[in-house]
Amino acid sequence: MDRLNNPARLMIVSDLDHTMVDHHDSENLSLLRFNALWEANYRHDSLLVFSTGRSPTLYKQLRKEKPMLTPDITIMSVGTEITYGNSMVPDNGWVQFLNQKWDKNIVMEETRKFPELKLQSETEQRPHKVSFYVDKDKARDVMRALSEQLEKRGLDVKIIYSGGMDLDILPQGAGKGQALAYLLKKFKAEGKLPNNTLVCGDSGNDAELFSIPDVYGVMVSNAQEELLQWHAENAKNNPKIIHATERCASGIIQAIGQFSLGPNTSPRDLKCSSECKMEDTNPGHEIVKFYLFYERWRRAEVENSDQSLEKLKAVCYPSGVFIHPSGVERPLHDCISAMKNCYGNKRKGLRVWVDRVSSAQISSDTWLVKFDKWELSGEEWQCCRTTVILRSRAASLSDGFTWMHVHQTWLEGSGAKNQTNWLF
Ligand code: GLC
Ligand code: MG
Repeated sequence: MDRLNNPARLMIVSDLDHTMVDHHDSENLSLLRFNALWEANYRHDSLLVFSTGRSPTLYKQLRKEKPMLTPDITIMSVGTEITYGNSMVPDNGWVQFLNQKWDKNIVMEETRKFPELKLQSETEQRPHKVSFYVDKDKARDVMRALSEQLEKRGLDVKIIYSGGMDLDILPQGAGKGQALAYLLKKFKAEGKLPNNTLVCGDSGNDAELFSIPDVYGVMVSNAQEELLQWHAENAKNNPKIIHATERCASGIIQAIGQFSLGPNTSPRDLKCSSECKMEDTNPGHEIVKFYLFYERWRRAEVENSDQSLEKLKAVCYPSGVFIHPSGVERPLHDCISAMKNCYGNKRKGLRVWVDRVSSAQISSDTWLVKFDKWELSGEEWQCCRTTVILRSRAASLSDGFTWMHVHQTWLEGSGAKNQTNWLF
């Protein structure tokens, strides 16, 4: 919450499965496009919020399977659990609020009387969420009868049907929409209401997000029937909500463009860095651009020319050094020369992305930039916490940066300790 001193320029609140994450895109291209756009243009002044139906257990599992960024805020278990930052500090005020008119034991007792309901796995049963599977054709009737039953027992609950199979029971005050309203209220009290908010979703439990006043919304092209139907019945005339023509994260990028919420060209969509617009140049952009070249070089997607390496050398300070995670130091220029030997060495399947880019201006022309650099190759994931000192080459930022110093350490638990090459 406190990472930004000013109101966020843009706050994106996105569902994960089939919205941010496309489970039919084994290459994760749309997610990687979004990641590059976010770290290059938004991370420094905007907020990323993930809002998922998954419990913390399944959310953490997804993060190990897909190249996802670290959000500023994570809303899990269908808006019943809110945590902040990389260390996921829980919002206890939200927990207390949800305790009102909620008794999980009564919910368990009543739902047992419905043979149509099949309990989901233990990990998905949470303090303020009880979840089942139910067939599509039975969902409506079961929901009606169940809600009558629970009302009779004095409970005020919300029953949500998603993905044509999942049925969640939550306290009435919970849900993705209520959790977002709670956050907006908190931001407002601090004088930090985001300038724009964009909500993104594909299924039933996302519908509430679209009914929060003043937000922009995108239903991705692959949205489920139940969300489209909700939209047709409740929000058809709201010009701030679109049904994208593109799937998942690409649909989110499409909405950023359509609503003019800020830059909407992912660095991954540009063939070479010279296509970048001047106004996009900031330390985050420089880092994203560099690692994109590095990925393309190792995948042999750029031309194998000495000239390219010379160009890279030209942006490195002649006496700058690279400190390898092993602790050994080497001149930056030597590291660039060593790249010659790794052209195309990960032709198949290497992906490189950066996460959590943050920069601090430490003098009139110098920035200290920190980020996580991830490499995914086959089944192997590697992450280095990286610190770079960048110096702007002229008075104006748009003239680009000189890389003065690079220092990497292995991120705890990310393995690959025996890697000895000199790559970045
Ligand atoms: C996720 C959760 C599940 C929930 C569903 C719909 O898949 O794991 O428990 O029912 O989202 O909200
Ligand atoms: Mg979804």
